[in-house]
Amino acid sequence: MKVNIDGETKTLLAVWYENGEVKLIDQRLIPDKIEIFTAKNSDDIYYAIKNMVVRGAPAIGVTAAYGLAMASKNKENMDEAVKRIASSRPTAYDLFKAIDYMKNNKFAESAARRYAMEITARSKKIGEYGNELIKSGDKILTHCNAGALAVVDWGTALAPMRIAHDSGKNIFVYVDETRPRLQGARLTAWELQQEGIEHSIIADNAAGYFMKNKDVNLVIVGADRIAANGDFANKIGTYEKAVLARVNNIPFYVAAPGSTFDFSIKSGDEIPIEERDENEVLIVNDKHLGPAESHARNPAFDVTPHEYVTAFITEYGLFKPEELKNLYSMIQRD
Ligand code: MRU
Repeated sequence: MKVNIDGETKTLLAVWYENGEVKLIDQRLIPDKIEIFTAKNSDDIYYAIKNMVVRGAPAIGVTAAYGLAMASKNKENMDEAVKRIASSRPTAYDLFKAIDYMKNNKFAESAARRYAMEITARSKKIGEYGNELIKSGDKILTHCNAGALAVVDWGTALAPMRIAHDSGKNIFVYVDETRPRLQGARLTAWELQQEGIEHSIIADNAAGYFMKNKDVNLVIVGADRIAANGDFANKIGTYEKAVLARVNNIPFYVAAPGSTFDFSIKSGDEIPIEERDENEVLIVNDKHLGPAESHARNPAFDVTPHEYVTAFITEYGLFKPEELKNLYSMIQRD
């Protein structure tokens, strides 16, 4: 992704491998500053994923792949390194896909590099297929951040918008702020601003207002894990956007690479949902929002039933939920 740093345009990736270390844009600090977090061992990788230095399903997968290559090069106990990294976050399937990929390739650095290169190429393809759904003048709503920061480059839900904008289409994006971690307000808005794509940040509870007033004509979101029947987990709040889109007759697309599809589970009921620390909800800028004695619940994801999905935008093309068997065969052949 192209990033403007102190008036200079630079090309940055969300994750990369350099001199035997894993480098990550520290996503906790964006948009205030761009700082690079260096991971030197599997404990650092665990810390970075768990604390959301890096986040977004494909980016978590790539970080794990590079992390395991690094751990193997440093002669760490690989059973322990795998166990530790696998325990960092439970929902994004890409994490487990990447770990399996690295196990099958003996934790080779070349395999991790290939994994990262492929995911980048796949997200560009998602962008190309998704671009075909976008017309000039479209107003698109997205939730959380499924941009370049969440992959390595391009993004999933944001890739079609990038390509549509680059090809001269006039688009406008409604960015849900995405409480409690504000991935929309902080990360998606920052990416769109870097690209010069017109957008407005909206409070999470404003989406219905804009949909009902015919101000949104397309919704595109990412996913963390998609079950065989098309039920999918994504950032908390996605489910209600899907229901609102259905009620208001707005097409609702889910953009994700093959690595996010978990065909070993039949439905969304089997997706493990992470519940994070209550303080993410209770405290903003070191200040308690409510009474200090109040507790909070903080599920990080929800599951949207497949009947709300118009189609999945993948690197293999578009698939309606009932067509996912075809996607499965294509992934098996790949
Ligand atoms: O908790 P996060 O920020 O890791 O959640 C990220 C999302 O929900 C994204 O929409 C999803 O991972 C897709 S990223 C291409």
